[in-house]
Amino acid sequence: MKILAIETSCDETAVSVIEAAGTYKSPTFKVLGNVVHSQVPLHAEWMGVVPNLAKREHATNLVPVLTQSLKQAGLFAQSENKNLKSGNKKKILKILERENELAKLFSESILNIEPPKIDAIAVTYGPGLEPALWTGINFAKALSLLWKKPIVPINHMEGHILSALLPPEIVDEKDPRIKLPALALLISGGHTELVLIKDWLKYKVIGHTRDDAVGEAFDKVARMLGLPYPGGPEISRLAGEFEKNSGNNYAKKIVLPRPMINSKDYDFSFSGLKTAVLYTIKKLPGLNDNIKKEIAYEFEQSVIDVLASKTRQAIEEFKPKTLIIGGGVIANKKIRETFRKVVRDFPTTTLLIPHLKYSTDNATMIGIAGYFRWLDNKKLHKKTPKNFRATGNLVLR
Ligand code: KG4
Ligand code: ZN
Repeated sequence: MKILAIETSCDETAVSVIEAAGTYKSPTFKVLGNVVHSQVPLHAEWMGVVPNLAKREHATNLVPVLTQSLKQAGLFAQSENKNLKSGNKKKILKILERENELAKLFSESILNIEPPKIDAIAVTYGPGLEPALWTGINFAKALSLLWKKPIVPINHMEGHILSALLPPEIVDEKDPRIKLPALALLISGGHTELVLIKDWLKYKVIGHTRDDAVGEAFDKVARMLGLPYPGGPEISRLAGEFEKNSGNNYAKKIVLPRPMINSKDYDFSFSGLKTAVLYTIKKLPGLNDNIKKEIAYEFEQSVIDVLASKTRQAIEEFKPKTLIIGGGVIANKKIRETFRKVVRDFPTTTLLIPHLKYSTDNATMIGIAGYFRWLDNKKLHKKTPKNFRATGNLVLR
């Protein structure tokens, strides 16, 4: 089946088209269209994502991003019949009432597109920034009415977990399949959690961050070092340079804590680490490039030590057949390498990490989750659920 997927939970406007078949155990996916429009340059000025700016940007970009994605998929055709049936029109206008920008583009451009040959629309409904989520949801609802296709609402974090099924970069066996029980470590700008999966589509969060998410800590520390937003890639670049240049004889001056590394649970805490960086900087006479690099290195190492230690502990307890690492922070090269080493100590656990391209936010992973939800209840998903709404703090379960 073909699924059109829409993602607008944060600062990426993304639309994908996938072709999916097979079972949970052995699914096959073809990515037909994958377009991501990043708003990073816009939010960089504010050193973080501004929800209402994000919303406006999604509204302006959704139609062009959809068009491009359909073109990639070979599913784009101009339409002759530009008239909306009067019943539909009323409903669509009502849905788009609060989406001014989108409503304009919708009537100018979407009606010129031939309804594409897809079977369902998957859309993220949480977690994330509610104003941003609403734009994607309202767009999906309007398309669903116009094209008469059902909507499958998707949890963004389930998307990050299942993104491991896309052509993976690090995989210990040739076919990227998830075998249960599985353990997922999710590390992104908004989340840090360890999730146990014993049954398909059933998630148990066994540990999470008590304060900042990993990506958030990367972004805040980067800011303290005067680095641009988003900070993750900048920190990892500096850390890499430090490692390359310092050599073995270098006496490291900066030491940061490894918060909660010895706690008996699976929870994390990164806000203390961030404060420790702040105090370290305050005590220094000043910041130069070398010191910045050393702080970046030590910070990254602290995060890695904690993530690896907690994950090891969870593998020992739950003996998962598959370990999945997902979320934007897994774009970090050192973290990818670290987990590759970690699983070497557990011969019955296979590591799955999504391809770099599908690590940060994208709609392809939402399409994959859409397919799994469809498999779960084909009958139910023939219809769009009536009252689904943007849910900023949606949890995995
Ligand atoms: O999953 P994602 O794209 O968006 C959320 O759902 O949050 O994750 C974005 C986060 C940002 O905090 C960003 O700084 C971080 O992922 N990130 C990285 C790297 N690339 C992106 N963190 C560390 N190292 C990286 N190379
Ligand atoms: Zn994400």
